[in-house]
Amino acid sequence: MSAIHLLRRFSMKSPSRFHRSLLFSKSSMDLPPDLPRNALIRPSSRFLSTYPTAFNSTQRLISSSNSNWISEKARRIGVSLRELSTSVETNSGDKTFERIHVQSSLNSNPLVIERIHKDEETVGESDSRVEIGEVKNVETLGGKVREESEAEKEAWRILEDSVVRYCGSPVGTVAANDPGDKLPLNYDQVFIRDFVPSALAFLLKGEGDIVRNFLLHTLQLQSWEKTVDCYSPGQGLMPASFKVRTVALDENTTEEVLDPDFGESAIGRVAPVDSGLWWIILLRAYGKLTGDFSLQERIDVQTGIKLIMNLCLADGFDMFPTLLVTDGSCMIDRRMGIHGHPLEIQSLFYSALRCSREMLPVNDSSKDLVRAINNRLSALSFHIREYYWVDIKKINEIYRYKTEEYSTDATNKFNIYPEQIPPWLMDWIPEQGGYLLGNLQPAHMDFRFFTLGNFWSVVSSLSTPKQNEAILNLIEAKWDDIIGNMPLKICYPALEYDDWRIITGSDPKNTPWSYHNSGSWPTLLWQFTLACMKMGRPELAEKALALAEKRLMADRWPEYYDTRSGKFIGKQSRLYQTWTVAGFLTSKLLLANPEMASLLFWEEDYELLDICVCGLSKTGRKKCSRVAAKTQILVR
Ligand code: GLC
Repeated sequence: MSAIHLLRRFSMKSPSRFHRSLLFSKSSMDLPPDLPRNALIRPSSRFLSTYPTAFNSTQRLISSSNSNWISEKARRIGVSLRELSTSVETNSGDKTFERIHVQSSLNSNPLVIERIHKDEETVGESDSRVEIGEVKNVETLGGKVREESEAEKEAWRILEDSVVRYCGSPVGTVAANDPGDKLPLNYDQVFIRDFVPSALAFLLKGEGDIVRNFLLHTLQLQSWEKTVDCYSPGQGLMPASFKVRTVALDENTTEEVLDPDFGESAIGRVAPVDSGLWWIILLRAYGKLTGDFSLQERIDVQTGIKLIMNLCLADGFDMFPTLLVTDGSCMIDRRMGIHGHPLEIQSLFYSALRCSREMLPVNDSSKDLVRAINNRLSALSFHIREYYWVDIKKINEIYRYKTEEYSTDATNKFNIYPEQIPPWLMDWIPEQGGYLLGNLQPAHMDFRFFTLGNFWSVVSSLSTPKQNEAILNLIEAKWDDIIGNMPLKICYPALEYDDWRIITGSDPKNTPWSYHNSGSWPTLLWQFTLACMKMGRPELAEKALALAEKRLMADRWPEYYDTRSGKFIGKQSRLYQTWTVAGFLTSKLLLANPEMASLLFWEEDYELLDICVCGLSKTGRKKCSRVAAKTQILVR
């Protein structure tokens, strides 16, 4: 059978669906003889038909020998000039924004050949990479030289070993590299979310190639024609993970293919809603940290951003600006009672909206989408700040709520029964500090504290400056609960007894104080570090990092820890888990490079707070709830 068998089935559905084929086809034989067959990547025909000139010459992925593109000058200019779509234009009525229609054709000619000069690449790489066994100091992007600890040296070695290559080029890192693991399941794959701390560690060390390759290759996988029981997920969906497979073409020839998983093989068939959001966040970070903005300006990359945004902003039955998702659609990828509007997805969504607003230039074809992004940013931050926030005062308010209020100006808008306040919370909530709820739905507040969502709200300024401070105050006040012996609890507290039985479905992996059910995940250190640095409290991050450093190397870099205080290595924890290693390194590098860290977080955007699309403020007949609450939103 020829390479044609690698072609994905082209759908007979509406022509607006496009399908990707990442393939090595017969046509590779027509190429110049000096071009290795396996260096071919055929792009989606959407790029070909729309912008032929963008691809009509042979292109080469940027190689390490070009790594000096991180010139100070370029970076400085780039950083200050990259504020593309921040002007705020709103429109209350118009909900239609650009739809992208791309047609596929089996006959499209390959116009792009991304040729990878392996030799040149490795020359560059050996210059900039830390050689195994020779690690002494690390020179980071800020140009500072630091003495590396033993743990850091080992971490770099493990991270380098976890790198996955595709046609000779680094494209990502495997989730875990545990030599003793006889049943790696999908931990031998490159997960989109897991790669983010790896990418940041590489970028902060001045190595951009792997990140650039990752971004481009995962872009090729976006919306690959995948079906789960004859149903195809939406255009723009990014996979949860991918694997490089070697397939036999004939008796003598094998070729490498990238095989994505959109959840169709994942345990529980969970939808990777966070993948596209992380992809956008990483794309922006790549530009900010390298000064190479040409990547995000590429037509195919711009289209990728738009597809993700269109998918997220599509109209549905929603009553709220938050994204409605199924259980397990993010880092917590098993049933844990986080279906609905979980905070983690909302804060990543908000960040991705902010990134997109920066990266999309406003023009005729994008202006409707940019307007939709601005409107959603504004509505989402209002909703989260106003309705997700809890502190001692707010809990007391909820405790005294009247219920069954039928009106547009009800105080208890979501009809929360005060009996829902869990007894643990009354004792636990400190005088100082507060946090954002885990989830909010009609008659339902999830009072658990979810770490990633709260930290990412701080980082992206989804929460107000005061709320950001209060979140860190809460961590400080509840240090033993959230950090204990190992940073950081994924959520707090655990679901126990009947709650565990009913909400997790008696999941033996998520028993109380284990894994997603309030286990401790060292990878979350980098997000904590970023939040602390943004709020001018790096000492908190340093304290947590020092605690982790004492154990991680000796414990062989576990995926997670168990028990109330994170005392034990997790029951089924993988060892040599890459994002544990990368999270640790990224935290170190961020703390050593505050200027670089500052490129990764956002300050309050006052322009966004002014947007109100409901139009009620103008009629005077009814009061706009947002205008009424505005003073509070700013000070809270
Ligand atoms: C587990 C985690 C998920 C992670 C994956 C690979 O499934 O829950 O967040 O991406 O492992 O490490």
